[in-house]
Amino acid sequence: MRLDKFLSNTTDLTRSLAKKAMHREEVMVDGVVVKNPATQVGSHNRVSWLGQSLALVGTRYLMLHKPAGVECSARRGLYPLAHELIELPKTERLNPVGRLDVDTTGLVLMTDDGQWSHRITSPKRRCEKVYDVKLAEPLEGEEARRAIEAFREGVLLDGEEHPTKPAELEMIDAQRARLVLIEGKYHQVKRMFAAIGNHVTDLHRSSIGPIALDAALAPGEWRHLSEDEVAAF
Ligand code: URA
Repeated sequence: MRLDKFLSNTTDLTRSLAKKAMHREEVMVDGVVVKNPATQVGSHNRVSWLGQSLALVGTRYLMLHKPAGVECSARRGLYPLAHELIELPKTERLNPVGRLDVDTTGLVLMTDDGQWSHRITSPKRRCEKVYDVKLAEPLEGEEARRAIEAFREGVLLDGEEHPTKPAELEMIDAQRARLVLIEGKYHQVKRMFAAIGNHVTDLHRSSIGPIALDAALAPGEWRHLSEDEVAAF
């Protein structure tokens, strides 16, 4: 990798600022000042900037227990961003694998590996996402049976051309349900319950495919995925 790229990967410098830092003789490779930005370096080299040694940021995979009031987005709006909860370098490179609404809590996978992310979100893969839902209105008896049937067959959401893909609805009690989706349309869970005249008051994602939210993580906490978890997709 070129030295200017190495610096932009490991520091807050852009490549053009990295070149300027090299020109000011601030960058050393294996103890020698290097001014040529095209110099090839790798993990076997000791690279430093202003005396601080630098290590390449590798590909990262982690799970976050997203609290309410945090946005799964790349740009700051009204709310703090999911990647800002991760106290690692260069977290702006970590993208959420499928978003949750600001008020939704639960499992968010984050990575800088676009291909891995695509394997999970690609509609072709039909990856199951499990949501715990709290409803404003009780849903029981015949009405619950009709909802289960309707979700299994697919419902046409406002503004959509095609019905939703088969979804498994399980009622835990009159106002609490578990819904398993194999797709991820915008606000899908809330819109599905709106389509049957109900309203979601609380929404929590508990798993994505074979990866369940680690019960040891409090809202706002995160951990790296294990090798097995990464390999599961
Ligand atoms: N469906 C929703 O309505 N909101 C989410 O955050 C996730 C799925």
